[in-house]
Amino acid sequence: MQRWQLFLLALAALGCHARAGHKHAGTREDPWVIGMSQCNLGEPWRVQMNEDIAQAAAQHPNLKVVFKDAQNDSLVQRAQVEEFVAQKVDLLLISPKESAPLTKPVAEAYRRGIPVIVLDRAVEGNEFSLFIGADNRKIGREAGRFIATVLGGKGKLVELEGLMTSTPGRDRHEGFRAGLELERHPELEVVFVADMQWLEPNARKEMDSALATHKQIDLVYAHNDPGAHGAYLAAKAAGRERGMKFVGIDALSHEGRKYVQEGILDATFLYPTGGREAIDAGLKLIGGQKLDQRMVLGTRLFTRENLGRGGQEIP
Ligand code: FRU
Repeated sequence: MQRWQLFLLALAALGCHARAGHKHAGTREDPWVIGMSQCNLGEPWRVQMNEDIAQAAAQHPNLKVVFKDAQNDSLVQRAQVEEFVAQKVDLLLISPKESAPLTKPVAEAYRRGIPVIVLDRAVEGNEFSLFIGADNRKIGREAGRFIATVLGGKGKLVELEGLMTSTPGRDRHEGFRAGLELERHPELEVVFVADMQWLEPNARKEMDSALATHKQIDLVYAHNDPGAHGAYLAAKAAGRERGMKFVGIDALSHEGRKYVQEGILDATFLYPTGGREAIDAGLKLIGGQKLDQRMVLGTRLFTRENLGRGGQEIP
């Protein structure tokens, strides 16, 4: 055998070795496949997350992302994860609807050697490669502090919660109560609480009930901007939106920040999608790099006053 033939053989062997564990070669012809299960596409924030992922992935011709929409159904999402595992994707990305029902399928994928990145809403335990998301307890706490200050420590509040079987709902609630410091503010009172499950139409309905049962409402804290907007619409329909304040979370430029600009919301807190970070980290995981298991993204506060300056960073 000629030396050049030996060299080629060695190269081929190396190539095979590098591919071990992956179904695809990670080349333009045979790109790595990332399976992304998005819990729903009914909300603008999730559409944005998928766009952020697609845009970041477009920079890498050796990468292909297959998107699935679970249509806000945990059983559908579970089946999607199982399909991706059966197809032997090189990496699984998931933004789960609820923590408990998705914990097992995610752990199963991870046990089979597929790197798994969980985005925004968490699963239980630690059988996944990486969790990327903002600190929802902190966002809730900052919202609580902001609200206590803005109201001068006095007033009646409505809290419209995100789905309480998902981690951001629980964290945004607990953080909020800690930030409000009700024990220090005896004249501050949460008079109405309901789970609107992240959905604007539900928020509107719940706010109708709040308005019907409470003569005085000074501020609505909703766990996301669609919720805050739904509450605003209900208050407006009842002719009570003036003099009432509305605070939300997400701060998409074409949603929450626009509402702040229009004077509909008084404040919104940025909840970054993590889409770009997921692709960057995903490539590293596929390449066999070890990463810390949590990546915490930052937040910003947007009010009418600071909107022009790009909001205020929250350390
Ligand atoms: C979209 C959404 C966002 C919220 C996030 C929490 O489904 O409700 O508005 O910030 O999920 O997971």
